[in-house]
Amino acid sequence: MKPARLGQLLAVLAGALLACAPQERPQTPPPLPSLPMEELMTNEHRPLVIAHRGFRGIAPENTLLAARRGFETGADMWELDVATSSDGTLVVIHDDTLVRTTNAAALFPGRSPWSVYDFTLEELRSLDAGSWYGVADPFKQVQSGRVSRDELASFKGLLIPTLREALELTRELGWRVNIEIKDATGRPCDEWIVERTAELVRELGMTADVLVSSFNHEYLRRMKKAAPEIAIAALIDKPIDDPVGRLRDLGAVALNPNFKYLDRATVEKVRNAGFGVFPWTVNAPADMARLLEWGVTGLITDFPDEGLRQVAAQ
Ligand code: G3P
Ligand code: MG
Repeated sequence: MKPARLGQLLAVLAGALLACAPQERPQTPPPLPSLPMEELMTNEHRPLVIAHRGFRGIAPENTLLAARRGFETGADMWELDVATSSDGTLVVIHDDTLVRTTNAAALFPGRSPWSVYDFTLEELRSLDAGSWYGVADPFKQVQSGRVSRDELASFKGLLIPTLREALELTRELGWRVNIEIKDATGRPCDEWIVERTAELVRELGMTADVLVSSFNHEYLRRMKKAAPEIAIAALIDKPIDDPVGRLRDLGAVALNPNFKYLDRATVEKVRNAGFGVFPWTVNAPADMARLLEWGVTGLITDFPDEGLRQVAAQ
């Protein structure tokens, strides 16, 4: 056989073999365009995957390590929660009390109920915000072997980050972040938590890379007043009557609803009106697939690796 003919034959055979091989599903979707947050609400790009409190499934939530794990896995941004120390520093923690995610009760036995708002920054920084993960194993990722003993050892002594540190890391990574401002109604910081957050985002030159959300919609109004250039999203738990009207009224770019109470009609209505929809906290693959099929703008999830797989499989 002539070499040219043999080459052709081999090419045909190789093609046939490839066609028979099982098609691998892509694990990661294409990167997002680098647009300012406001412009990421359109349909012209794939849905976003947001690592909830960092990659909370495999690392202690709201720590810089959890953020890094989210980045490494390819998440498009992370979500964090902002509260304050008693002496006025913005810090990253979800619960009002320190009990679940730190050793405050052991270190400060007389300070029940261990409200984060009652502790100075120095006190907060003396706490271990990582060791609890191995004890609680909140997503059974230690039991399953996904989080190794070595990885677990590295959680010991992780600190509650300040918002400044969290933003600086986000900036260093060239990443984006959804800053959720906790409702501090009734606390002294209620008067300034929004405005100081706006100030810090501006100071760090990150206004195009953050999305600020809150269940307290008055905070969102204040954010718009303090820094109109920062995109805001309205967090809701149970459905509200006129979500599009609320978003317009607030000047928000997106609705961040509890996925459990969300339906297709609401997603379509909100998206057709030009707003984003970012449901939380979606961890089961079937829920992710359904929401993506409904046309959500992104998923807020404790497992961004699974979120990315679902987006890639669309
Ligand atoms: O921002 C999405 C989600 O984090 C809202 O609820 O309680 O987890 O902060 P929560
Ligand atoms: Mg949150």
